[in-house]
Amino acid sequence: MIATTPLLAALGALSSIAAAQQCSGHTAKCPGGTDGVSQTYLQCDSWSHQYVSTSCPAGQVCFANPTAPNTVMCAPPGSGTVPDQGRCTGNTAKCASAGTSGQYYQCESWAGLYVRASCPAGLRCFNGTTAGTVYCL
Ligand SMILES: *[C@@H]1O[C@H](CO)[C@@H](O)[C@H](O)[C@H]1NC(C)=O
Repeated sequence: MIATTPLLAALGALSSIAAAQQCSGHTAKCPGGTDGVSQTYLQCDSWSHQYVSTSCPAGQVCFANPTAPNTVMCAPPGSGTVPDQGRCTGNTAKCASAGTSGQYYQCESWAGLYVRASCPAGLRCFNGTTAGTVYCL
């Protein structure tokens, strides 16, 4: 009981530092700049120029929005884009490691970036006969 008071005081100090961060316009960011973990995001209040912690819909977490810098989107965990896989167009996909795992990358055409996807349990991803297609077997 004695130990909780200083801990709560320290947390209070940290959260007021975070709340005091200046921002402008309708910008937003994920807490700590980390994608895919937080159920809340920091939305700039353009009147006070302070970030306000805002909740994603139930079951969703914060991702940086790849199509609009300095904004965020809420999506199910694990559904974020994978920028290091390069850009893509249309309904295309590629295996992470053809023939050896079930992981693949599916193009999220609105973002022009890949998202992680996986074959049903026990199946592996193979290159399709047409470029940009895959199948699970
Ligand atoms: C599958 O296709 C990728 C390109 O999408 C290529 O780099 C890779 O070598 C192919 N793997 C096999 C086993 O054909």
